[in-house]
Amino acid sequence: MSGFGCVILAAGKGTRFYSDIPKVLHDLHGKPILQHVLDAASACGFEKPAVVISRSAGEIGRFLKGKARPVIQEKQLGTADAVKSAKKELSRFDDIAVLYGDVPLVKKETLRSLIKQHKASASSCTVLTVEMEDPSGYGRIVRGISGGVEAIIEDKEATEEEKRVREINVGLYCFDRKDLFEAIDRVRESKAKKEFYLTDVIAILLEDGRKVAAFKTDDPDESIGMNSRADLAKAYSILNQRKIKELTGGSVTVLDPATTFISPEAKIGRDTVIYPFTFIEKDVVIGKHCSIGPFCRLRPGTTIGDGAEIGNFVEVVRSKVGSKSKAKHLTYLGDTVVGKGANVGCGTITANYDGKKKSRTVIGDKVFIGSGTILVAPVKVGNGAVTGAGSVVLKNKNIPARAVVVGVPARILEKSKKAKGKR
Ligand code: UD1
Ligand code: CA
Repeated sequence: MSGFGCVILAAGKGTRFYSDIPKVLHDLHGKPILQHVLDAASACGFEKPAVVISRSAGEIGRFLKGKARPVIQEKQLGTADAVKSAKKELSRFDDIAVLYGDVPLVKKETLRSLIKQHKASASSCTVLTVEMEDPSGYGRIVRGISGGVEAIIEDKEATEEEKRVREINVGLYCFDRKDLFEAIDRVRESKAKKEFYLTDVIAILLEDGRKVAAFKTDDPDESIGMNSRADLAKAYSILNQRKIKELTGGSVTVLDPATTFISPEAKIGRDTVIYPFTFIEKDVVIGKHCSIGPFCRLRPGTTIGDGAEIGNFVEVVRSKVGSKSKAKHLTYLGDTVVGKGANVGCGTITANYDGKKKSRTVIGDKVFIGSGTILVAPVKVGNGAVTGAGSVVLKNKNIPARAVVVGVPARILEKSKKAKGKR
């Protein structure tokens, strides 16, 4: 996008989070709040945007490495001052998009439309607005008799009448760069917060006879700012329901959206049914015609093959379960590969961690793992093998194909050796 730059503001103190971790690095459904904003920017062609951070935010600086161009705001004097600190970084662009690092749910389509309208209208500023049921805490959009935006008044500075306005400033703007930096030096310190508000630029631009436009979205959900942990919980729930809606609008059944959590990045195939109280984290891929849950947790790095069944109280992480395999009750599969058509019996545990390192378990095709089996990794169970109920298969004691093992520690049944020999 030639001539169009992007700056993300993330130097605020985040005081209402009462946290030892920088606010924008808090996890929101599998990735930091700030990553959501970076992703929206990148989807609009802003690779490596400028991100304003405070000098003390080394952690954010490290997080941004390779993803963005960090700019330091020496003192947290407000959003106008934050933009000013990126002045040099932005000097080569004609227009710039300003995003707030704590407004993570804005959809890329909305950002794209805002940019498109800004370009088409040739305004000095185009601000994104939305009607909120409860606008408290947000900057209010004050419109004149002709309907045009006249000013943005911050909650703390608003009169009772202004507080009743439900149209708010989302915290996303496009500016003509030259006009912005001409106006920004004239922003005065606010009385209530002793900060220099970027929002005051709007009234200044209008005084200068410049054109200011508003772009109104109709989705208040995408506009919420992360100002407290309650907002974080709200955002989590919005992202979750957005994902479930996308799935159920397509070919996946989610029986109880209220008790189901699915990462926006999970992929789920056609005719798969997700039962209640199920938690599906990022980088999980589930095939077609599967049955998942109830009460199941699929953690990052899990792949479930077509027609597989993962039942209640089963946890799977960094593992691959082959098509038509089953793990239906009380099971832990970690760092494991399960082949096709295998049955992992109730209460099976892959003991993947020895206190120092994690090791892998490989369970072959058509294996039958008896109830209560413990597989101490690293270990392999050959195709068609069987473990007896309660057996403990020790590490490196790989089970040959079609063998039957029983006991603690598990030993190969002679009979099965002969049977194998016969085949
Ligand atoms: C801001 C807007 C408000 C809008 C709301 C949307 C202003 C003055 N107000 O209010 O109109 O409705 O967002 O969520 O802009 N930041 C810096 N440096 C600073 C101060 C803030 O980088 O010195 C960053 C913060 O990290 C944050 C963003 O700017 O990402 C917004 O600042 P914040 O203090 O959260 O503003 P709000 O009170 O939420
Ligand atoms: Ca905020």
